[in-house]
Amino acid sequence: MAVFKHEVLVIGAGMAGMRAALEAMREGANLAILTKVHPLRSHSVAAQGGINAALGEADTWEEHAFDTVKGSDYLADQDIVEIFAREAPGDIVELERMGTVFTRWDDGRIAQRPFGGAGTPRACYIADITGQAILHVLFEQLLKYGIGVYEEWFAVDLIVQDGVCRGVSAIDMRSGELHVVEAGAVVLATGGLGRVYHPTTNSFICTGDGMALAYRAGAPLQDMEMVQFHPTTLKESGILMTEGCRGEGGYLLNSEGERFMSKYAPNMMELASRDVVSRAEQTEIDEGRGVDGCVLLDLRHLGEAKIRERLPQIRELAIDVAGVDPAKDPIPVRPGMHYSMGGVKVDANGASPLPGLFAAGEVASVGLHGANRLGGNSLMETVTFGRRAGKAAAEFARGLKQAPLNEGSLAPSLTRIRELMDRPLNGGDLPARLRQEMGEAMKEHFGIFRDEAQMREGLAKIADYRSRYAGVPVRNKGKVYNYDLLSVLELGFLVDLAEVIAAGAIARKESRGAHSRRDYPERDDQNWMKHTVAWRTPQGPRLEYEDVRVTRWAPQKRSY
Ligand code: FUM
Repeated sequence: MAVFKHEVLVIGAGMAGMRAALEAMREGANLAILTKVHPLRSHSVAAQGGINAALGEADTWEEHAFDTVKGSDYLADQDIVEIFAREAPGDIVELERMGTVFTRWDDGRIAQRPFGGAGTPRACYIADITGQAILHVLFEQLLKYGIGVYEEWFAVDLIVQDGVCRGVSAIDMRSGELHVVEAGAVVLATGGLGRVYHPTTNSFICTGDGMALAYRAGAPLQDMEMVQFHPTTLKESGILMTEGCRGEGGYLLNSEGERFMSKYAPNMMELASRDVVSRAEQTEIDEGRGVDGCVLLDLRHLGEAKIRERLPQIRELAIDVAGVDPAKDPIPVRPGMHYSMGGVKVDANGASPLPGLFAAGEVASVGLHGANRLGGNSLMETVTFGRRAGKAAAEFARGLKQAPLNEGSLAPSLTRIRELMDRPLNGGDLPARLRQEMGEAMKEHFGIFRDEAQMREGLAKIADYRSRYAGVPVRNKGKVYNYDLLSVLELGFLVDLAEVIAAGAIARKESRGAHSRRDYPERDDQNWMKHTVAWRTPQGPRLEYEDVRVTRWAPQKRSY
């Protein structure tokens, strides 16, 4: 068994991970990245429409901050939002200097398009491949500075010794060997948990690994009941049709050809916040004004030239996947699971309550998005808070004197893997089938609209999935690229996280942002302007609550 050792280990190589690594390198740390896929296959590659910063003369950081707080339905921590909105413009300029070819206006300024819940056009973009373009730029930086990557290594457990995170146990997928990668500080940047649901806009790799690793290691998860449904995902496949479509002027129509958002958000219409638009669409569909379970995203009036220039990927996806040319016909779309506002509870520097453990990006809950994230704020979060976490992790690890790791630090992971590999082959669910069944149940019971009875039924189903999970065998008994073993490990992460989502959702007796309860339809600031903080116990999640931090924006009635 080889032992690998660094001052800082970043787990995950998407935008947050690469940005964190760059900053840790600038701080002089001996560091490496560990990732289960090639960096350019990280889910940031799928981000389409934009990255928000108050750059324009007509915009201010205060307006960006206010829109974010309002968008969060007053569950965001306002000190965090202020840091974010102030620092975002500088981070965009830095990305530009690294070589990001942002789309520009004719006068050379970085172009910005309108996005939901934003009072002014604030989303910088590269056509509709914003994440892909920035991911490539960050990857070039990684190569330029020779930052080492444990590529196709799968993190199994965080190693905690004397109450401090000391590294990770990980499988090198090529050999199948399990190793310790020791680190003075670990930065989780593993992205979201989209695959708890089915369908989702998220890649197959988005299995909540970092959230589950942290939770199992004794760090708390925050606001996990806050699950975002994006208003425009393609019929059947659930592929994202960027908010940029509406930012460029696209309409949403019901079966009667009506721009129905006029009933729900008369001022902002299609560019209300995501929770509002998704609920409106679902209401239209439920009340019989949908079109085959969808509504229609109409881009025809934009004309083919603009669609080709600003939304080339959307055009291709609509044609290739749905057989619809958006210049000629409206695209059938429906709300689909897209993002987790919840994650590993961290402070403004990405530090979790577990010493030595940091997190940034979707895996983290820094208190920025509250109950509903604004489109374009997550890409910005990966950069701004990735940078902050990388710096803080390097500072934490610098000059750290630690006792040697215990001999048995790999034992819990080895035991678990052995138990999985030894499960009898007869009977037991296929991991992919159980994952899909659970994903569909999560959508049904913890979807856009929720109520007590429906959620309790969902919770009982999750208990059933947990007991069935205990009998899921690993059919491939080999070592090299044993994806069967990895998918069983991932399924274990997903079951843990489904339980936390369910517990938080049932406990929160109000409607706020993405958490919309038919039995408690009002927001209740008196009792629920609080974060849910979930700790793992053998009996399931234990929930605590923490007050939201308010600096300057008292809660108001939210309308668009
Ligand atoms: O609609 C989109 O392009 C997605 C952006 C986001 O989730 O921030």
